[in-house]
Amino acid sequence: MKKNKTIQNIQAIVLAAGKSSRFNTSKTKLSYKICGQEIIAYPLTLLSSFNIPTIVIVGHKKEEIKNIIEKYNFKNINYCEQSEQLGTGHAVQCAQSLLNYENILIINGDMPLVKPDIIENLVNIHQDQNSTISFVTAYNPKTNNSYGRVKKNNNKIQIIEVKELRQQNKNLDDYKYINAGIYLIKKDFLVDTLNKLKKSKVSQELYITDLVKIASDNNLIIKTIEADLDSLRGINTQQELFEAEKIKKLKIIESFMANGVRFKDINSIDIDINITIEPGTTIEANVKIKEKSYIGANSIIESGSTIINSYIEKDAIIKQNSVIENSKVKSFAQIGPFAQVRKNSTISEYAFIGNFVEISSSIIGQNTKAKHLAYIGNSEVGQKVNVGAGTITCNYNGITKNKTIIKDNAFIGSNSSLIAPVTIGKNAIVAAGSVITKDIPDNALVIARSREVIKENYVSKFKILSNKKDKLCEK
Ligand code: UD1
Ligand code: CA
Repeated sequence: MKKNKTIQNIQAIVLAAGKSSRFNTSKTKLSYKICGQEIIAYPLTLLSSFNIPTIVIVGHKKEEIKNIIEKYNFKNINYCEQSEQLGTGHAVQCAQSLLNYENILIINGDMPLVKPDIIENLVNIHQDQNSTISFVTAYNPKTNNSYGRVKKNNNKIQIIEVKELRQQNKNLDDYKYINAGIYLIKKDFLVDTLNKLKKSKVSQELYITDLVKIASDNNLIIKTIEADLDSLRGINTQQELFEAEKIKKLKIIESFMANGVRFKDINSIDIDINITIEPGTTIEANVKIKEKSYIGANSIIESGSTIINSYIEKDAIIKQNSVIENSKVKSFAQIGPFAQVRKNSTISEYAFIGNFVEISSSIIGQNTKAKHLAYIGNSEVGQKVNVGAGTITCNYNGITKNKTIIKDNAFIGSNSSLIAPVTIGKNAIVAAGSVITKDIPDNALVIARSREVIKENYVSKFKILSNKKDKLCEK
């Protein structure tokens, strides 16, 4: 995420202790990924882009959440434990003694689509209007979601949870604005008022949202800003996770399309946030592009292929159903169909890795071809090498991995086993079906297979023998 300008005088609280009960899994919903990033990492990435010091409230599955956060090395994060989940108001109460900035920004941990300008606008209005509470709302004409509803009348304002409205038999059609779950509150008011929250009679929880009614009853200044509902989606259910990911994914793809990338079927693409694709490239259906991958200009990624944390240079072709993982494919190289390149491998310019070929921890030189059914592991393969069908580098002896070196212009005949460590010299020819255990010098021909034995007219003798055997069996 781009660096935003530092926001001062603000400390944030991210609520991440909830039980995820509507999610119906053994893991917390906050650990699920949207376009490659865990839900909890979104608000924290956003806040850290503004350099806002942050307290994360943890409780349910706290180690799982902390482990995720630690991976990101955010600066200025502290944790506070809410040992019993008694509601969002109770969660904030737990952090009370750690609050030491003028204003406190409270944000739900389950909001993965919030845009930076929402935070900026909220801060601006809060400061300009000297407001006690400022919070984010959205227009929402639907009645089938569980967002708290904002009620304004006679200069009074409050947030009412849907559960409460239902219990009071209120018509949800009368409430067109929802509470997003992002609040900026003066610390002094917050600290004075938190302990006045009362349990909801419906859920027995303390609601952070009730602070709005308390401030309103005391005629304090309350401001709201409106944003689009899609950016404010909270994730409570698998369905909401699916919808949020769809929105995020579409935004990523749309920005690539605007930049000249061709997508043949956007619905079937799985793409992460940290991807770069240069103009002129075509991405076919059912393609996954994950983690930190780069795809250069005018390349083609054919259907069913997966690119994970890999660097594909311009003008490369990844044919159908191939997997490239933690590797580099250089310009004009061609991979697949049905090939796998993994574990820090490099495929050089104009190399051709064909169907059912696996390349692992290896460097493949320019113009080298391994067109069918081969395994090349822990190898350094030079330029213009021809690797025949069925070639296997036997790189593992059960204990250690060993290296195979194949020098420029060598020719490896089909169905050869190269028992590593071993070197095949420049221009050397390995005859088909060979098992190579010794280094082969430059320009040599090696044949390492047992000689054929041809027994002329042996078939008729063999038939007599087999007829006799059949008769014995009949008896
Ligand atoms: C909350 C708001 C609702 C708003 C919606 C926006 C309240 C009472 N309601 O409802 O008005 O429209 O967010 O998405 O705040 N959490 C804790 N400790 C707890 C309970 C929850 O840390 O005891 C955390 C959760 O992990 C979650 C966040 O607080 O990240 C919000 O809780 P959630 O249960 O999702 O609240 P909603 O019902 O969505
Ligand atoms: Ca929620």
